[in-house]
Amino acid sequence: MERKRWYKDMVFYQIWPRSFKDGDGDGMGDLWGVLEKLDYIKSLGCDGIWFSPIYPSPGADCGYDIADYMDIAPEFGGMEAFKKVLEGCHERGMKLLMDLVVNHTSDEHEWFEKSRRRIDPYTDYYIWRPGEKGGKLPNNWDSNFEGKAWTYDEVRGEYYLHLFAIKQPDLNMDNPLVREEVKKILHFWLDMGVDGFREDVITYISKTEGLPNDRIFPIYKGMRKYNHGPHIHEYLSEFKRDVFDKYDCFTLAEAPLVWPKRALKYIDEEKGQIDMMIQFQCETADCLFTDWLPTKFKLRKMKKAFSDWQYKLSGKAWNMLYIENHDHPRIISRYGSEKYRTESGKTLAVTYLFQQGTPFLYQGQEIGMLNWRPESPEMYEDVQTVYNYNHTNLKKSPEERLKRLWRCSRDSARTPVQWSAEKNAGFTTGTPWLPVNENYKEINVEKEEKDPDSLLNFYRKAIALRKSLPAVRYGEYREHFHRSKKLYVYTRETESQKLLVICSFTEKPAKIKIPSGYNIEKGELILANYKERDEKILKPYETRVYLFNS
Ligand code: NOJ
Repeated sequence: MERKRWYKDMVFYQIWPRSFKDGDGDGMGDLWGVLEKLDYIKSLGCDGIWFSPIYPSPGADCGYDIADYMDIAPEFGGMEAFKKVLEGCHERGMKLLMDLVVNHTSDEHEWFEKSRRRIDPYTDYYIWRPGEKGGKLPNNWDSNFEGKAWTYDEVRGEYYLHLFAIKQPDLNMDNPLVREEVKKILHFWLDMGVDGFREDVITYISKTEGLPNDRIFPIYKGMRKYNHGPHIHEYLSEFKRDVFDKYDCFTLAEAPLVWPKRALKYIDEEKGQIDMMIQFQCETADCLFTDWLPTKFKLRKMKKAFSDWQYKLSGKAWNMLYIENHDHPRIISRYGSEKYRTESGKTLAVTYLFQQGTPFLYQGQEIGMLNWRPESPEMYEDVQTVYNYNHTNLKKSPEERLKRLWRCSRDSARTPVQWSAEKNAGFTTGTPWLPVNENYKEINVEKEEKDPDSLLNFYRKAIALRKSLPAVRYGEYREHFHRSKKLYVYTRETESQKLLVICSFTEKPAKIKIPSGYNIEKGELILANYKERDEKILKPYETRVYLFNS
């Protein structure tokens, strides 16, 4: 029997706080801005918000380097604003998810300050290894952001492990005291009323004993030794047993390099320790493992990713559905077409919104924001981008190096939300911390609100439909014509309801393909992105959803 869980009927909206809406004019998005826009989020049909980190942080990785887990950063409005947002969400029947980042802290966290001075009980809160400055590193692991995974700390006279930036030392989760700290943090927010957590790179928290060298791997050496490590399920079970089971909440785990079979060990509805997983395959149809190794977009790769997760989780676990977040460039610029921005934005929306799972939208996705293309590399803020720019592809021309940033950088999707055609896109009255995309006069919420055929209003329709159709929640998923390089066609079937979803992914006209057993003349066309339709030919990026009730 399928367990009734409230998150299964919901659609979430991800807020990347710095760039969402500035309420106090300092150029940085904040919770006062969020408060102003809660009704807007609700109007999309979204039932909840996931906040990327809003805790006090020096901002080396835009908040994913936390200096205090039990407070809200003053620049975001502090606890006062947070409590208002939490209340505002609950009044509107919306849920609120926090980002739990416990693989690492900021090096400015009090625990690290004490650990590097060997002040107990913090001495073993982090992963320290002896060695001499400039000497041989403890092992061959790479960090995900800034070169090697080890940095020498002069104060302690040892190396510390950081799988991300230098300013993000990894916690030693094998230390029971650290796990108790995590539980305290969880209790703190759950007692305040938050409804769950998105858990940042949680599959990295258990490192292989002895921290052995990894085999040579083209990127991220070490990953085999810390991703899905030896005690991962034990630690997650402990958090579930001691904390999550005591609350009506849910957990969503970010998991790089995870495939459905492995994922089921975490999210099986009977035996799992968490509720849903953020997988990366659907984000790699135009790259190899990471956006920094770009390839041509391959529709078949995208379809395979979605279908694999639909088929293999069916009846066993629940999918988290997304096409954008703060870690990847904008989806229309990648999988769609900037020339057919609205059309391809609609096809992409349909692509994932009619699948089984809980969809997430990333701020700005609903209006079809595109990649940012600044004129100078100096304008980038993201730590990963700055490192890659300064250390890779050095022999290429300046133009090529800049274009690479446009294509690969996370900042491509981190520019402020474009609210209107006013100065700074209506995001702030001050100077935005990251420039707004120059296209804001053309692409903004205000303009799309007024246009019944805009992408924004299409999202509203698609979400409302999704919620009204039992086949979206319960229906069996089946992909058709999987060899097609132009069309993504899938069906969802229950005994009494069938849905046929057709998405074209080409700028050229394409011959329509209908699965056998379906007669579109007998179906009701419930969603489409063109007013006029040809019986046999799909227009560029055309999408259609047909409903068959019996
Ligand atoms: C994954 C987050 O989504 C990303 O933004 C962050 O930089 C890393 N984890 C490190 O916390």
